[in-house]
Amino acid sequence: MLDHLKANNRAWSERKMSADSGFFRRLEAQQAPEYLWIGCSDSRVPANDIVGLDPGELFVHRNVANLAPPQDANYLSVLQFAVDVLKVKHIIVVGHYGCGGVKAAVDGQRRGLVDHWLHPIRELRQTHREELDAILDERSRLDRLCELNVIRQVRNVASDVFVHEAWSRGQKLSVHGWVYSLANGLVRDLDATVSGLDELDRLHNLPIRTVVGGPPGY
Ligand code: CO
Repeated sequence: MLDHLKANNRAWSERKMSADSGFFRRLEAQQAPEYLWIGCSDSRVPANDIVGLDPGELFVHRNVANLAPPQDANYLSVLQFAVDVLKVKHIIVVGHYGCGGVKAAVDGQRRGLVDHWLHPIRELRQTHREELDAILDERSRLDRLCELNVIRQVRNVASDVFVHEAWSRGQKLSVHGWVYSLANGLVRDLDATVSGLDELDRLHNLPIRTVVGGPPGY
């Protein structure tokens, strides 16, 4: 069963070993990633590949529509481990244009459990209704919602107690918001970086930007 995957795995392991015979032994001893990636589960957004990082270099949490809900035990466990134990220096929330999760949140169709998971995105749409309604092209409107979702999740991460505690003990930690384009494989920095308590307010005052003719990256 799944023999092609096992064959791929053997070939991958051999490639790694022939490039660096101590690679797996070093990783076995410890992981010391500098980055936590919070991204979408979408199969077209492979975290390590996109930023060219090896095993051991990126701590990864993925879920549908890259959410960071303050009551989600899975996300919070990852966040605390990354901040308190691994002491990552950067947390990157990475959304992507054309996100099926974001689309499903607002298309009015019932799907089941995932509708509850996506509830924060419906609230977000309500909050930014005026800006979003001004975007006539549906795809551009959804893509703007993808960006707003990333910024909202950056806010969730940056206002979390674990992150505040890290900052107050002088730990260097920045939270970033990126959005990835499926069309060209490039990430775009949304300029929503927060590196300390005093910077949190800027996320509430980010300028409203109307997307004209689709965001850069198309
Ligand atoms: Co997605």
